[in-house]
Amino acid sequence: MTKLWGGRFQQTAEEWVDDFGASIHFDQALVLEDITGSLAHVQMLAEQSILSRSDAEKIMDGLLTLQEKAKNGELTFSVAQEDIHLNLEKHLIDLIGPVGGKLHTGRSRNDQVATDMHLYLKTRTEEIIVLIEDFQKQLVSQAEQHIETIAPGYTHLQRAQPISFGHHLMTYFWMLERDKARFQDGLKRTDLSPLGAGALAGTTFPIDRERTAELLGFSGVYENSLDAVSDRDFIVEFLSASSLLMTHLSRLAEEIILWSSQEFSFIELSDAFSTGSSIMPQKKNPDMAELIRGKTGRVYGNLFGLLTVLKGLPLAYNKDMQEDKEGMFDTVQTVTGSLKIFAGMIQSMTVRTETLEAAVESDFSNATELADYLAAKGMPFREAHDVTGRLVFYCIQQGIFLKDVSLATFKDYSSLIEDDIFIALAPREAVRRRNSLGGTGFEQVGLQIQKAKALL
Ligand code: ARG
Repeated sequence: MTKLWGGRFQQTAEEWVDDFGASIHFDQALVLEDITGSLAHVQMLAEQSILSRSDAEKIMDGLLTLQEKAKNGELTFSVAQEDIHLNLEKHLIDLIGPVGGKLHTGRSRNDQVATDMHLYLKTRTEEIIVLIEDFQKQLVSQAEQHIETIAPGYTHLQRAQPISFGHHLMTYFWMLERDKARFQDGLKRTDLSPLGAGALAGTTFPIDRERTAELLGFSGVYENSLDAVSDRDFIVEFLSASSLLMTHLSRLAEEIILWSSQEFSFIELSDAFSTGSSIMPQKKNPDMAELIRGKTGRVYGNLFGLLTVLKGLPLAYNKDMQEDKEGMFDTVQTVTGSLKIFAGMIQSMTVRTETLEAAVESDFSNATELADYLAAKGMPFREAHDVTGRLVFYCIQQGIFLKDVSLATFKDYSSLIEDDIFIALAPREAVRRRNSLGGTGFEQVGLQIQKAKALL
């Protein structure tokens, strides 16, 4: 089939070669952005008297027809036209005749595709920010119900100190808050218009780049035409922010998986976010959390894929850059899906308050309380640590916990210990008293939640 750029060619490529070079298989996802970009371009061409009003109107009518068809899924695309840009131009010419060929005046596919990508990523990033907030709301709402639920806190996955379960959940709120800020910051650089950069050098036509930027809702333009068509750093930033977000989701996914195991039994996921086994009738698997943990890998892969594509490219456009798309589309889909699933999963999970609270009754996670108790009575902390360590060893030998030790025995280890030790050792007290700024004390968690709500 003849190509829109076929003038200087004597031979045509075989279909399978075209197929390898084509991007229409995936860049058709940019169909609406491409039409939007063209509409702004042609309007500017008319305003600048580069095209006559009547030509511009014909082109705009044609583009609006194509837009309608695209929305209804009525446009067909062909590999012979390589990509979304040439497919649409061909459709336009078929629809309105040779005047359609005037659309590409003062423009190249290089600034066109970069414009499409900026438009696409800008809206998708804005949508992702909203989804992060939806998920944050679910975290805050669960956390608020569990400010006073005592749970084991871990380091090295060993019981460390009792904490408020709400405090634990709120950790993810703040991680997501920083993720949101990274996406918002990336938006500043996505919100720039490359349109009008031409193939690389600008154009001889008296175009108005600021006008097209304004028509497209961009807050500024790229200052250098080579830069405008050469870099994909705005996508790298998006993939990087997505990778960190997925890291956070993956860590929570891992906790959800552990917590819903029979060994922990801290939570139960709703049936709506679990799956069964084809052989073992008793199973209820946390598949969605596992899948999100797994999908984190593909997002990292997309980031590294694009960084690697870009690292050796001379200026300006190179066909390698066509490889920027699938990883970006895939990441948008993965991040969007993961956030939606997580919001539902957290909202519908049941927290087993009694199991959590029972857990801290039968462990040594209150050992720091004893050490702090002694330190508060004037014993150097290092010494208090040692006395407590020896008492823990004594308990292990006796098969008891610190709360079961008699006052007489406590006194054998230190005469500073009085009978108020039993209050100090209670996990609920241990949590309540951690009232330092940002600590797990109920009052602090309450304040933290107030601050979080003010941000939403
Ligand atoms: N399909 C191409 C891409 O995605 C569009 C730009 C083509 N430009 C060119 N000079 N071949 O990168």
